[in-house]
Amino acid sequence: MSENKSSKVLIFDTTLRDGEQSPGCSMNLSEKLKIFESLQSLNVDIVEAGFAIASDGDFEAIKEISKIAKNTKVCSLARAAEQDIDRAYEALKHAPNFRIHTFIATSELHMKYKLRLSRDEVLDNIAKSVKYARNLCDDIEWSAEDGSRSNFDFLCKCIEVAIKSGAQTVNIPDTVGYAIPDEFKNLIKKIKNNVSNIDKAIISVHCHNDLGLAVSNSLSALDAGARQVECTINGIGERAGNASMEEIVMAIKTRKDFLPYFTDVNTKEILQSSRLLSAITGFAVQPNKAIVGANAFAHESGIHQDGMLKHNKTYEIMNPESIGLSKSKLVLGKHSGRHAFKEKLIEMGYNLGDNFINEAFKRFKDLSDKKKDIYDKDLIALVDNEVHFTDELVKLINLEVNCGSTRNPKIIVQINYKGKLVEKEESGNGPVDSIFKAINSVIKNNAKLELFQIHAVTKGTDAQAEVTVRLNEDGISVNGLASDTDTMVASANAYIVALNKLIDKRKRKNSGIGISSSTNY
Ligand code: KIV
Ligand code: ZN
Repeated sequence: MSENKSSKVLIFDTTLRDGEQSPGCSMNLSEKLKIFESLQSLNVDIVEAGFAIASDGDFEAIKEISKIAKNTKVCSLARAAEQDIDRAYEALKHAPNFRIHTFIATSELHMKYKLRLSRDEVLDNIAKSVKYARNLCDDIEWSAEDGSRSNFDFLCKCIEVAIKSGAQTVNIPDTVGYAIPDEFKNLIKKIKNNVSNIDKAIISVHCHNDLGLAVSNSLSALDAGARQVECTINGIGERAGNASMEEIVMAIKTRKDFLPYFTDVNTKEILQSSRLLSAITGFAVQPNKAIVGANAFAHESGIHQDGMLKHNKTYEIMNPESIGLSKSKLVLGKHSGRHAFKEKLIEMGYNLGDNFINEAFKRFKDLSDKKKDIYDKDLIALVDNEVHFTDELVKLINLEVNCGSTRNPKIIVQINYKGKLVEKEESGNGPVDSIFKAINSVIKNNAKLELFQIHAVTKGTDAQAEVTVRLNEDGISVNGLASDTDTMVASANAYIVALNKLIDKRKRKNSGIGISSSTNY
């Protein structure tokens, strides 16, 4: 197949905007910059870096991302309002290539109950906002929120007005994940056939996964003429998430016979981006997740293993190397040096900076003193852990736990909080309760513990414990993930990671206009 221009599918990644809005997935500035760098290495075409007017934190993140952007186009979301568009422009103007993405809801339900606007008012808003944005920026995307549930004739009218006013990309979201693949493909086909000026714009699709159909819907839209897909790493996003970037990209790469398109994504970076995101957000990828799950290339049953030994194509439709998963060649131990450690992480899909490697290497040395065999899973936990300990406000310095079957636990915790060392002694209902109480007496919060989960990273009694904590304070939901050979230390650290995120998110919420959900505008 010749890869001509019309078969190129633009990958618009919204991990940092729609993905980041999902409960527990918030990221601070340095985490967002790391994800952006990873998206640049993936070579996605457009990165939606945030929603500039939503908060000062979002604005700063888009601005800093714009400053480090090279070839990747940076984009900000904006409602159909001048102050939103101005804010987006102010954040984006530092980037060599940027796009303003403005949107308004077009379904009867949203217009009547949420916007309280008539059809004519919505059309007027579209014309004004797109023209206004076009005066500031050459590249405008316009979205019809709840497009898949909109009246078809009205939707066509809106698209026509958006294109006439200067939009070069028109995005049709399935905002609530309601569409079925054939139905969605038909919708795109009908738009192509009925909107008079559609040849002047690229059709984009943005599918949510409420019925588990986000990827299928996006792929079927390609057959109808869509040439941009909006998606996120690991499929994170509002509710059940967005279409998963890695699934879209690998389906196109693997099934060229049915999907005669191509993307410019460097698929070898897929695994590292997935791992980095789950380390940062604390959102573990389910083991059986397509492409990036721990079992996606594992062959457990005897028949499958036998087939694989005879010919790998018997049970593998994709080459693991194509997503950056290489067969393990290096085994690390107590005497491994920094170079071998770095090579091993690269082999496992982690492409991290030197400062990070130095810090992680210290932790690796500590771990290899405590634990004889270091497995790949130990290293994944170690790197995931390290991601959170760079520039945190609260840090665990020391923890002493004294408990047993005949006495109440007594714990002493030392925390560095805002540069000061604070020590607390506490006794509660078990060691974990005591630790969390002690931390709460230093870092005041009203957060409810929604999830506390421990799992052993590997086999053996010396295995590292990986602890996940989810906290919710007044609707702000954050995850914390940490690992250690000592379960209590891992619990304390996971709790502190979550609190650090909560403090950051609280600040962002207070500085913004209280926008927290893409469907709440
Ligand atoms: O799901 C949606 O409709 C959105 C739009 C703002 C593009 O995220
Ligand atoms: Zn969305």
